[in-house]
Amino acid sequence: MKRVVLIGIGTGHPGHVTMEGVEALNRADVLLIPTKGEDKAALAQLRRDICDRYISGEYRTVEFALPVRDAGNPSYEAGVNDWHEAIAAEYERMLVDEMADGQTAALLVWGDPSLYDSTLRILERVAARGAVAFETEVIAGITAIQALTAAFAIPLNRIGQPVLITTGRRLADGWPEDADSVVVMLDGQETFKGLVGRGLDIWWGAYLGSADAALITGALDDVADEISAVRARARQRAGWIMDTYLLRKR
Ligand SMILES: C[S@@+](CC[C@H](N)C(=O)[O-])C[C@H]1O[C@@H](n2cnc3c(N)ncnc32)[C@H](O)[C@@H]1O
Repeated sequence: MKRVVLIGIGTGHPGHVTMEGVEALNRADVLLIPTKGEDKAALAQLRRDICDRYISGEYRTVEFALPVRDAGNPSYEAGVNDWHEAIAAEYERMLVDEMADGQTAALLVWGDPSLYDSTLRILERVAARGAVAFETEVIAGITAIQALTAAFAIPLNRIGQPVLITTGRRLADGWPEDADSVVVMLDGQETFKGLVGRGLDIWWGAYLGSADAALITGALDDVADEISAVRARARQRAGWIMDTYLLRKR
């Protein structure tokens, strides 16, 4: 039986890789490295750097162009479905062609594989396609949420209170009813700007874990414009941005 190990690599700092992750990197027969075009070259390089830093001796990588989602598809769900199917076909090809029976392939997954990451769902698709049999193993990683709260040295929740984790797309529908603390990920639209005037505090972080990390906190009404300006500059400089924020009622 073949095996696929998903290793959570944290969010940009090689030190985020756990000892368990290092052990898994060293027992993998092949490391599958996604490339996502020029602007995301830094993310592929970080994965290569992690392999260089933690794997003792020779190792084998296979680089593959990760299919991109067709943002022009009028149906978001259909676009994601087609995209995941294209990635599943690519995984299937590598599992069939690039490894022998009894071998292990490693995928270095950003943050933790359980949080806003579809690698596990896509591997289920690969299994359902029936062309290759394999086992799946997950090594937990540090999420962007943990990197954010650590950077500000704050607890994620207030005592005994729940935390809602959501996306910018969902937050655009309005502040979730009864929510106390809301973590927002995958927000390309600066949805926080629509929540000014509601008595919220924000803890915002971009490129968490990397040398370019940017952090801003304060009353949302006071810092929303500053976040927007810093975000725009950073995005222009790097060509991409990953940011996460926590909003909490004052
Ligand atoms: C596809 S999700 C992946 C989340 C990842 N699996 C995790 O555990 O954090 C990508 C989103 O995670 C957040 N994110 C990932 N890395 C980040 C970083 N270094 N700094 C800030 N936010 C980050 C951003 O909200 C980004 O839009």
